Amino acid sequence: MKIILGPASTQLGKEIAQLLEAEPVPVACKTFPDGESYVRLEGQVQNEDVIIVQTTSPPQDTRLMQLALMADSAKRNGAKRITAAVPYLAYARQDKIFLQGETISVETIARMLKAAGVARLLTVNVHEEKVLAHFPFQAKNISAVALLAQYFVKKGNAKAFALSPDKGALLIAEEAKKVLGGECGYLEKERDRYTGQVTMEKKKLDIKGKTVIIFDDIISSGGTIVAAVKILNELKPKEIYVACVHPLLIGEAEKLILQAGVDEIVGTDSVPSSVSKVSLAPLISKELAR
Ligand code: R5P
Repeated sequence: MKIILGPASTQLGKEIAQLLEAEPVPVACKTFPDGESYVRLEGQVQNEDVIIVQTTSPPQDTRLMQLALMADSAKRNGAKRITAAVPYLAYARQDKIFLQGETISVETIARMLKAAGVARLLTVNVHEEKVLAHFPFQAKNISAVALLAQYFVKKGNAKAFALSPDKGALLIAEEAKKVLGGECGYLEKERDRYTGQVTMEKKKLDIKGKTVIIFDDIISSGGTIVAAVKILNELKPKEIYVACVHPLLIGEAEKLILQAGVDEIVGTDSVPSSVSKVSLAPLISKELAR
């Protein structure tokens, strides 16, 4: 097995290669003056089972293109089987047709990757797991929520209240609850499909004087978390933490969340960021070693 170090996840790729005792394949990468991507594999992949580690957080179109180019290059150079290990799968939130005239973008991406030679996909906390069933190759989702919850247990927050900011993420809060050993709950969120504006209803939750950890798969603009924190603040918790698998943290998201009254934001290195305190390398390498 060889690990191709995608330019978006070089450090994570190196850690995975180390844990698997597999040879890393560096990638030379550049962007031409007109914005086109260039990649070149700096190692042999002939007859190898190769894993390309490449997250597809912003700039997601560039990173998806780099992924397709790396897969195609691996195929041309004789790789036996190509697995894309994509911690953050771009376009996964457009997993159904919400408004007439749209498409299921994540399925378009899957077909593009298949055309480039990808035979298998491994991703982490994809927005809706059921969408993977429609992929034209084997696609597996693994969860990093237990790792995030373990971070808080080690920090001394066992028994904290695990909260999801919407009903869709309740499974995540329930998963965290199993590790934290406390209670869990959710808020009700509505998003305007045209403006993207988030609204949340007030809700009675038994969190007075307690530590609350909001668990979500993605933080993008931070609008969801800020809206959730406003509601929680009225219920007088002791402290509020935020845990997310994919800290996209677009624009001023981190600042807005901290200003709203959050004590700490914890994310994984699915998307390298200032809050990426939990590594996915052990989780991904364990899955690849199966
Ligand atoms: C949506 O359902 C997701 O689980 C996240 O809550 C959402 O993507 C976060 O986006 P934002 O930070 O822009 O509110």
